[in-house]
Amino acid sequence: MLQKPAGQVRIYRNAEELALKSARLFARLADQYVVGSGRFTVALSGGSTPKAMLTLLSADPFVDTVPWSSIYFFWGDERCVPPDHADSNYRMASEALLSKVPVPPANVFRIPAENPDPQRAAEEYAATLTRFFVGEARATKTETAPLSNLPRFDLVFLGMGPDGHTASLFPHTTALQAGDQIVVANYVEKFNTYRITLTAATINNARNVTFLLAGEDKAEPLKCVLEGSYQPDLYPSQLIRPRNGSLLWMVDEAAARLLGDQHSAE
Ligand code: 6PG
Repeated sequence: MLQKPAGQVRIYRNAEELALKSARLFARLADQYVVGSGRFTVALSGGSTPKAMLTLLSADPFVDTVPWSSIYFFWGDERCVPPDHADSNYRMASEALLSKVPVPPANVFRIPAENPDPQRAAEEYAATLTRFFVGEARATKTETAPLSNLPRFDLVFLGMGPDGHTASLFPHTTALQAGDQIVVANYVEKFNTYRITLTAATINNARNVTFLLAGEDKAEPLKCVLEGSYQPDLYPSQLIRPRNGSLLWMVDEAAARLLGDQHSAE
């Protein structure tokens, strides 16, 4: 049964325009949440696509206008490498943005994925998120929604691989059945290694979830994820359906080339 696409899809001419529009989205939401609740909590994705956006945010007009001291940075997933390793998602974000803007180091919560015991790394990050979010939620309980043990990010950025994976939720892996765990260590056979990743439940508890996709190699999987039948074990990105939040797909024309014309060009 073909499924109704989840979320809104915005199509941009190319990766450059995608980077600029996503940087503006980040800045707008940061202002909105800092004014509204005094802070902005964001989980960054890894991979290559977000780098251009992060680089733009480290320069004018964003560097002097974004409320950096009230922004708290987290990650959606991490490779099991040290933070200075070339494959580290933390390193990419640090070099592209965090080392260039006045974010207090205490506001940066990277995944301790260098821990030789991936399970321990996942548990540690889950404890960090629980301390930061659930403790706070108890203290400032405003929303009607019953208290959840899950962190509620203001914004989660996601990418999608050519195999339809997102964060480190890969096809046919145990993390897809993680239930309401917060963070898990996920063994990824094709890489013969573990990844540390937020679960779909945690991502779906966010106020805003935004996918950033660019390039030809994303066209087939995007068509299947948005317009194909619901097969989350094959296309884990289909698991992303925020329970009480917004879902936005920001994609360039190359990635959107196979989509039906029900999706809008920005
Ligand atoms: C990672 C990511 C992963 C990424 C996709 C897309 O650690 O690799 O979090 O989910 O977002 O693989 O990667 P690209 O942006 O490089 O296409």
